[in-house]
Amino acid sequence: MGISIRQLTPTFAGEVSGVDCRQPLSPAEVAAVHAGMVEYAVLVFRDQPLTDEEQLRFTLHFGELEETRGGTPGNIHFRTDEEVRKLGPGIKDFSNVGPGGESLSTDSRAYAFKLADQLWHSDSSFNAIPASYSLLSGRTVASWGGNTEFADMRAAYDALDDRTKMAIENLVCRHSNMYSRGKLGLAEFSDDEQAVFKPVRQRLVRRHPVSGRKSLFLSAHAGEIEGVPLPQARMLLLDLTEFATHDRFIYSHAWRLNDLVMWDNRSTMHRGRRFDPNEARDIRQTRLAGEGPTIAQDA
Ligand SMILES: [Fe+2]
Repeated sequence: MGISIRQLTPTFAGEVSGVDCRQPLSPAEVAAVHAGMVEYAVLVFRDQPLTDEEQLRFTLHFGELEETRGGTPGNIHFRTDEEVRKLGPGIKDFSNVGPGGESLSTDSRAYAFKLADQLWHSDSSFNAIPASYSLLSGRTVASWGGNTEFADMRAAYDALDDRTKMAIENLVCRHSNMYSRGKLGLAEFSDDEQAVFKPVRQRLVRRHPVSGRKSLFLSAHAGEIEGVPLPQARMLLLDLTEFATHDRFIYSHAWRLNDLVMWDNRSTMHRGRRFDPNEARDIRQTRLAGEGPTIAQDA
């Protein structure tokens, strides 16, 4: 059975058929999925009831886990110790479900941290080596809301006027979890957190390592631009983000049970949408390391 991909929006996102993600893939299938990712940047696989082990095996066809290269510093989970569920190796818990199957309290700081997933971002842009692919598996989906939206940052870059392109070509941003959480009013961070969340440098315009296409590397984690006064930097980031998340650049994924959605953080942004926090929603993520930093870090 061959792989085929149906394009979902005018510029990107495709729905894949002809792949059973529970089974080991052939080299030709891996190559076809990679090629699909280069072209569409977001791929949707329907009806893939995965175990954690199967999700990890499927993921590892496409690279190395971020934990083993580039890693999330300090392995911050944004859950309290009592709220941590035991999942398979390499699996990130993106649910609102506690160890007993109960939905997590919305009063906790952990919940407030988690809410920042609803801001437009690129995964791990706060790491010196930002992520390449992320994969989300919908094990229990919300009955209302909870879409995941994606923005095509290549198409957005292409659509910028030439003057803006020239102005931003060599700009370098600083990204940190403190900037994204700060947008929700979370202003106090412990010494440990400040060390772990130390801002990293990222190019504002990046080039995809395979396609060579340029894209805007925006993210809620971006909070400063080097050499630009803070209000001007924040205004430019807000302006570019508003431009890049116009409807014409968006694919909104409405979750069905057992969907697997895979995206390239190097050419897209995404955000979760609101859902009823009293309802259990179990979404699990695997994340692959990028090939390297977008620019050298401070010495
Ligand atoms: Fe994310």
